[in-house]
Amino acid sequence: MNSLADKKIAVIGAGKMGETLISAILKSGLTDRQYITASAGTSERLVYLEKKYGIRVEERNADAAHKADLVLLCVKPQMYKTIVGELDPVLKPSQLLISIMAGVTSAAVEKHLTGRIPVVRAMPNMPSLVGEGMTAICGGSHATAGHLSLTQSIFDRLGKSIILAEKHFDAVTSLSASGPAFIYIIIEALAEGGVKTGLPRDVATLLAAQSCYGAAKMVLETGEHPAVLKDMVTTPAGCTIDGILKLEEGGLRVTLIKTIVEAARRSGELVENGG
Ligand SMILES: NC(=O)c1ccc[n+]([C@@H]2O[C@H](COP(=O)([O-])OP(=O)(O)OC[C@H]3O[C@@H](n4cnc5c(N)ncnc54)[C@H](OP(=O)(O)O)[C@@H]3O)[C@@H](O)[C@H]2O)c1
Repeated sequence: MNSLADKKIAVIGAGKMGETLISAILKSGLTDRQYITASAGTSERLVYLEKKYGIRVEERNADAAHKADLVLLCVKPQMYKTIVGELDPVLKPSQLLISIMAGVTSAAVEKHLTGRIPVVRAMPNMPSLVGEGMTAICGGSHATAGHLSLTQSIFDRLGKSIILAEKHFDAVTSLSASGPAFIYIIIEALAEGGVKTGLPRDVATLLAAQSCYGAAKMVLETGEHPAVLKDMVTTPAGCTIDGILKLEEGGLRVTLIKTIVEAARRSGELVENGG
């Protein structure tokens, strides 16, 4: 029996990520559909969610959050002041507000709450949908160790989670929340290489994706530095070293470092500039 079994969950702003969490929570058996309520911006979206998942839906965010034990805040960062303002009158210190918004600190959320509402910030990613998510978690000023461990018990069922200082959250947003998009481009590009060398596209995509998956699993399970694992593949005077020569010539390593730095910088300005 998990600690979530009898908890009511409200998903405020059930868009792509909110839906991913609903789907992953149901798939993992963390709780039953009768305990989940969602809100969204349009009635079309509510009809879709109700039909597809058999969950409850509410037009007003406050109605969705009112009786929930856990309130997952999944709206766009630029909307947070309005939405937190709508939730404020109904939220109680016995509830837990979990915000997954990029670029919005837990202190910024707390500033718009009148009560001492526990706020936890979580930064999940899309692979949560297939049980291979990565989520970083930190607590606001009224969050206890119990709130953090309850949050972790949710996200651990959707993949891996880590408790991390909030000062790292822009980096996390870039590396693990945006990261899957960068990896998809790498998989697509590797597959193009396979197509160029004569493989059917579906075979090329399978080979590229499974090689990325396997390589990542090796890093996680062996605990070896990626360079050591790379050396294991790279036979002297073999073909891998010729490929590495091209890869370094093309600047992939520097490009990826700059990609992460740039996305982290953007995460820090999301709310300020309304982007
Ligand atoms: N996408 C990711 O991989 C990812 C990863 C980590 C964190 N996040 C964070 O998750 C949040 C959502 O991102 P997303 O990609 O899921 O965006 P999204 O698909 O645009 O979802 C936002 C949802 O908010 C709803 N909404 C709009 N106005 C609303 C209102 N007044 N009240 C309640 N709901 C309203 C929208 O409803 P309609 O659909 O009806 O317009 C939409 O379903 C963002 O803060 C983002 O930083 C996203």
